[in-house]
Amino acid sequence: MFRFGVDYYPEHWPETRWPEDARLMAAAGINVVRLAEFAWSKMEPSDGVFDFAWLDRAIDLLAAHGIAVILGTPTASPPPWLMGAHPDAYRVGPDGRRWTYGNRREYCPTHAAYRAHSRRITEAMAQHYATNPAVIGWQTDNEFGDRCYCPTCVDNFQGWLRGHYEDLTELNERWGTVFWSHIYNGWEEIPPPLATGGSPNPGLALAFYRFASDSYVTFQQEQIDILRAQCPNHFITHNFMGFGYDRINYFDLARNLDFVSWDNYQRMQWTMSTGVIDPAAGALAADTMRGLKQKNFWIMEQQAGSGGWEMVSVAPRPGEIRLWAYQSIAHGADAIVFFRWRTMRYGTEQYWHGILDHHGIPGRRYDEVRRMGDEITRAGNDIFGSTVRAKVAIVLSYDARFAFQIQPNNPQFDYPRHIGQIYRALHAQNIPVDIVAPTDDLSGYALVIAPSVYVLPDDVAANLVEYVRDGGLLVVTQRSGVKDDDNTVVNMKLPGLLAEVCGIEVAEYDSLAPDMSNAVEFVLPGMTRETMAAVGTWCDVLELAGAEAVALYTQDYYAGTPAITRNHFGAGQAIYIGTVGGDPFYATLTQWLLELAALEPLMETPAPVEVTERWQGDRRLLFVLNHSDSEQSVNPGGAFVDLLTNETIDDTVTLAPRGVLVLAAA
Ligand code: GLA
Ligand code: ZN
Repeated sequence: MFRFGVDYYPEHWPETRWPEDARLMAAAGINVVRLAEFAWSKMEPSDGVFDFAWLDRAIDLLAAHGIAVILGTPTASPPPWLMGAHPDAYRVGPDGRRWTYGNRREYCPTHAAYRAHSRRITEAMAQHYATNPAVIGWQTDNEFGDRCYCPTCVDNFQGWLRGHYEDLTELNERWGTVFWSHIYNGWEEIPPPLATGGSPNPGLALAFYRFASDSYVTFQQEQIDILRAQCPNHFITHNFMGFGYDRINYFDLARNLDFVSWDNYQRMQWTMSTGVIDPAAGALAADTMRGLKQKNFWIMEQQAGSGGWEMVSVAPRPGEIRLWAYQSIAHGADAIVFFRWRTMRYGTEQYWHGILDHHGIPGRRYDEVRRMGDEITRAGNDIFGSTVRAKVAIVLSYDARFAFQIQPNNPQFDYPRHIGQIYRALHAQNIPVDIVAPTDDLSGYALVIAPSVYVLPDDVAANLVEYVRDGGLLVVTQRSGVKDDDNTVVNMKLPGLLAEVCGIEVAEYDSLAPDMSNAVEFVLPGMTRETMAAVGTWCDVLELAGAEAVALYTQDYYAGTPAITRNHFGAGQAIYIGTVGGDPFYATLTQWLLELAALEPLMETPAPVEVTERWQGDRRLLFVLNHSDSEQSVNPGGAFVDLLTNETIDDTVTLAPRGVLVLAAA
């Protein structure tokens, strides 16, 4: 069933208010709440003393209104008694400084006593709620994150390295520790890449980032194991942070969960330099989250009001809360849970606005959610479980992402932004995209884009090459194949293991200053010679080794040499893009690529209108989203019924400002 819910904190409010909350929730169509993920102090007020009575009462009341419950393990925010007893359980930042009490997520994920406390509270909750009929699932912790550099983690890092390298001789060789005399004689000599150590050995730093990511994966696994054993009928998920979060390999974190949930905020207090929302950013986040398991997801926190800690973000404009929630659904959400029910009068997030304001009286935002609740009651079953079927994939490599954090190569280059630019060009043309892991099966895609696969382990290279050999159309961009699995530069001409499939060699490369640029022109036989928008940041100077030139640089000492190439390999083709452009560059390029791949947009629409599709068996659903504050007209080209209103549409239809249609063939 399609779940429509809120994050609720009954512990923030007097118990006398709870019945009114439950009543208002039910009236808005809410059928699920997430509870307790920050209630450790209330559930274990002192060491080993548990109190679930208050939570039982809240759950009973909600259940009486037909509302199901997801429980969060509360480990993101430990009580003062716990941290007071274990001062070395505070996380240490890259500057070597230890956190102190006062916020949340201040814990070290490898600290033995912290882990023991985490297992105990998880076990106690699981035992207590395993048979409660209102409870349907669990959220582990809350938004895992942030690398810890504490002495415990350093010990564990050294242990992790022993498991990943035969011996120190091998490690020294693979990291090239001979450079600057870093040859390690003992595992205990190997440091974390603290800022106080300056620029680290790239091999060491990548290993540490992988270890830090694994430390959360294994921490979470302990909770998963307990929950699976105690609550075999409940699902287990975690609330991820979308595309933007960059310190955990999210593919790994998602592996043993039943499905991914994530937290979707579009107007944050930190992004106040502009009031403009980029719809492609929300779309990319959603497609990435769907890609972690190639499976539909939940939104565990969907924005329901202004964000705010010290600052208060721009208020969601009328219709935005609903529009963003539908955008999540359009990209694969099977549940929408709004953050949060009511704005808290106390605490750091005093200004993080929920559906209700501080005073608790329903207003504009409640009305908008209730309207959507009515619609979901009507259309939820049609939508639930329907799937996105994209023919284009973009490869997301956390190895590359981590390695670029260590060495961005050029101050203007940003790996996630590079992915975002290419994604945005496809999004603007209403082309569905999957975000995939580098080793995922690519055989079903008509077009695979692998932007800057900078770290290229053998198995990833083999996967990409096989895809082309079997008939795929692969696009690789600059700085691909540069490093091996240890973040060591390959002993080959670039793009290393992809040189043969691309039919080129990088003769040299030019990292450009911000005041330098170049331009490229298309020269492919049969295409009109057309100068494209400026490029910059990075220019690979390419030599053809079987490939043909698609575009040439027009300036500088490599004017007239190829910037973009195409190679036939096996039954497929590989395109190499050796430079970085702006939006017009990727717009032109993706148009050409879509032609090559014989892919058509879902619908031609005015720029602010986004279209996606989900398939319920062979029934196709079209989601049409107007991201602007003015009316927009579209013609879906056929006879459709809008599942949200049951109105029939067989010609041009006008979308209201921030309007949404969910169309099925009439
Ligand atoms: C995150 C957290 C929530 C809350 C919101 C708003 O997504 O998971 O607990 O802090 O952000 O800040
Ligand atoms: Zn630590």
